[in-house]
Amino acid sequence: MATQAMSEKLQQDIDIQFEGKSAKLPLHRGTEGEVGIDIAKLRSSTGLVTFDPGYGNTGACKSAITYIDGDNGILRYRGYPIEELAEKSSFLEVAWLLLNGELPTKTELSSFSAEIKQHTMLHEDFKRFFGALPKDAHPMPVCAATVGALATYYQDPESERQIHSSVIRLLAKMPTIAACSYKHCIGQPFMYPRNELDYTSNFVNMLFATPCEDYPIDPVAARAIDLLLILHADHEQNCSTSTVRLVGSSQAPLFASISAGISALWGSLHGGANQKVIEMLEHIAREDGSVDKYVARAKDKNDTARLMGFGHRIYKNYDPRAAVLKKTCAEVISRLGKSSKLLEIAMRLEEIALKDEYFVSRKLYPNVDFYSGVIFNALGIPTNMFTVLFTMGRLPGWIAHWLEMRRDPDFRIGRPRQIYTGANKRPYVSIDRRG
Ligand code: CMC
Repeated sequence: MATQAMSEKLQQDIDIQFEGKSAKLPLHRGTEGEVGIDIAKLRSSTGLVTFDPGYGNTGACKSAITYIDGDNGILRYRGYPIEELAEKSSFLEVAWLLLNGELPTKTELSSFSAEIKQHTMLHEDFKRFFGALPKDAHPMPVCAATVGALATYYQDPESERQIHSSVIRLLAKMPTIAACSYKHCIGQPFMYPRNELDYTSNFVNMLFATPCEDYPIDPVAARAIDLLLILHADHEQNCSTSTVRLVGSSQAPLFASISAGISALWGSLHGGANQKVIEMLEHIAREDGSVDKYVARAKDKNDTARLMGFGHRIYKNYDPRAAVLKKTCAEVISRLGKSSKLLEIAMRLEEIALKDEYFVSRKLYPNVDFYSGVIFNALGIPTNMFTVLFTMGRLPGWIAHWLEMRRDPDFRIGRPRQIYTGANKRPYVSIDRRG
């Protein structure tokens, strides 16, 4: 059973007065000291609503899953530092941790893994479903559509037992869906899962093998992908996770909520940034390798170019995931016996940006997407699959948040307010009297 999201109610309240009305707003402190103002009674007592575009200051829920301290570059899943999990854990173990709140025992992990292996295949009719989609489709909407379509195959009402089945099915089928989304766009036959392989190796096999010959799975590559999945597994209330929570708050099924999360992740300011980073590095390499020129463009407010893989809403310090990835990048590339021009360009970009007043004053540091694409590229992962790998990694985090929300005693449908800025009441004008 997952750890409950606990907080302490402080003795002190915040008093608000507005146009003769007043409210006493309670304060709640989380386990790492963050204090939030509880505004639930604000509107009913004073008529005021809060205004916070982009939700930069809005705590939408209490959560016991992931802790981030963006000023000090700290990320922990269920209390465990990301650096330790990256070094010592496996993706399936981290998935269990996120879902259940504790690290699994050996028996729990092996039965979790065995249960997942029972559900790795997709219904054979999905071949026709994929066949109806254009070959040049990006794999992200293909994945979102396929996960949404799972809701048409598994229609039972969501009892706790049924939700457990949906969780296992999603984790089991996601690598199969991810690999099929790629095979579809290159016109190769889909590969069936091979359950004697571990979670990540099975994905690698389905992505690269063909029915004509076996694919020798490089353990260095499989471990690097597993590590990348761990680093992406959760990141508290980011855009896609908040989407999953919001969709799920209407009591839409898990498959539908996760499909919406995949769509949110696709955008280039979120998970789609990993593809954009490699495209940026390739663009620089093609031009003349001049990093300064690109940095100047990223600083120019009249140019739409941004330094992709740089900056973060929460981290005002080095993203701890980027720190792990930078080190891993160099190790993986040398263990694979490769050299990477793109890694050299990325490191030069980082060096210049971290000394530049524009980036320093805005506290813009490399984020998780800056180095992940370089590793994916060195491993031979096709560029349009980078965000799909992010999706595979983020899946257990999305599910953990969906479950936490459904079990939260304060659970209510998500429904933000607005400040209306449109026309005041006016009478309808018939069409012959307009213009
Ligand atoms: N390159 C150039 N300038 C930037 C960048 C960048 N990558 N990021 C932010 N800025 C500037 C921005 O123009 C603004 O400048 P000013 O104060 O002069 O108007 C200032 O820094 C603050 O930026 P913001 O857009 O208000 O910050 P935000 O918190 O709303 O956006 C972000 C965060 C991640 C969307 C943004 O930094 C960005 O677009 N980065 C590039 C895309 C990227 O790498 N996304 C991946 C995010 S991490 C993984 C994930 O969440 O999926």
